[in-house]
Amino acid sequence: MRSLIDICDFTTQELDELMATAIDIIDTPDKSRDSLNGKILATLFFEPSTRTRLSFESAMLGLGGSVLGFSGASNSSAAKGETMADTAQVVSHYADIIATRHPLEGAPLVASENASIPVINAGDGGHCHPTQTLADILTIYREIGRLDHLRVGFCGDLKYGRTVHSLISALSRYEGNEIVLISPDELKLPGYIKEEVIGASGMKCIEVSEMEEVMPTLDVLYMTRVQGERFASYDEYLRLRDVYTLTTEKMNLAKEDMIVLHPLPRVNEISVEVDSDPRAAYFRQAMNGKFMRMALILKLIGDSEDKTKVSRVRGEGIVHDVACQNPRCVTTNERGLVPSARVTADGVLRCVYCDSIVK
Ligand code: NCD
Repeated sequence: MRSLIDICDFTTQELDELMATAIDIIDTPDKSRDSLNGKILATLFFEPSTRTRLSFESAMLGLGGSVLGFSGASNSSAAKGETMADTAQVVSHYADIIATRHPLEGAPLVASENASIPVINAGDGGHCHPTQTLADILTIYREIGRLDHLRVGFCGDLKYGRTVHSLISALSRYEGNEIVLISPDELKLPGYIKEEVIGASGMKCIEVSEMEEVMPTLDVLYMTRVQGERFASYDEYLRLRDVYTLTTEKMNLAKEDMIVLHPLPRVNEISVEVDSDPRAAYFRQAMNGKFMRMALILKLIGDSEDKTKVSRVRGEGIVHDVACQNPRCVTTNERGLVPSARVTADGVLRCVYCDSIVK
């Protein structure tokens, strides 16, 4: 059974094929209108969402399928103490595909290990958000015409910004890309992405703390919201919330054909005056998300009918029964789950579910 838990679950060729399908749907919407008649998408959202959930639902309805689900943990049996494993098994009898968002890192992986239908990770804590990456790459491709040899700046909360983690992973697989990480010290990119994604791919990467110095060199500027809901201290969030604001003055420093992306929702990090700049591509990015989710649902339901298609094997070099110390990891909450870690190339143990170092 194929699922999409991490963007690495798909090859670069598959990402390219998904973009081609999405563009085909945009160009000839009538062709796919009834493709999934009788199929059901379950949206299991344990965390707030506007774009992701609604674009998944709109995508499924646009393919002729139906949708059921819930939004908010308090509206599900999780509030009664049900595990993700049990929920996933049960929902497998009611739907053909699941899209799930959860505050605990690794929860969608647990769902995919227990479901008998494909599972899509629609965001797990501060960890990954592969379907936002699908929206991001289609936007870059449609706006700039390529996904390679780009200089992409990531600005803001690179620590908890799950969309950043997944997009960096995708960009590292296309040739010649360079990334510029713009963040305060407190919100720097997690170590596993620096070591295992950037380091292993050899993608060029620099870290700076000011936007102005790098603005003139960027092809893409990816702005992010400081993820207040993941901070242990509210005061710390208030201190860091408005560190970067993209203004028209800063846009004046950028290339004429640079594009600005943001997964949205925006708070103060992009001033509204920037919206009328043709380089502001974030609302077009939200629209592209729906078409990539249509392409994804078509692919996963199609693949689920082919028993030879299986998900990436996460079984090599795995050590079992090693407790993960990350309080935001699903292993700290999910009863009956055997915590497992993988051995990295540097000999470090990292949790299979959340990628934190396991001691
Ligand atoms: C992002 C998310 O949920 O991680 N939003 C989205 O899915 N479009 C970014 C965010 O919430 O800041």
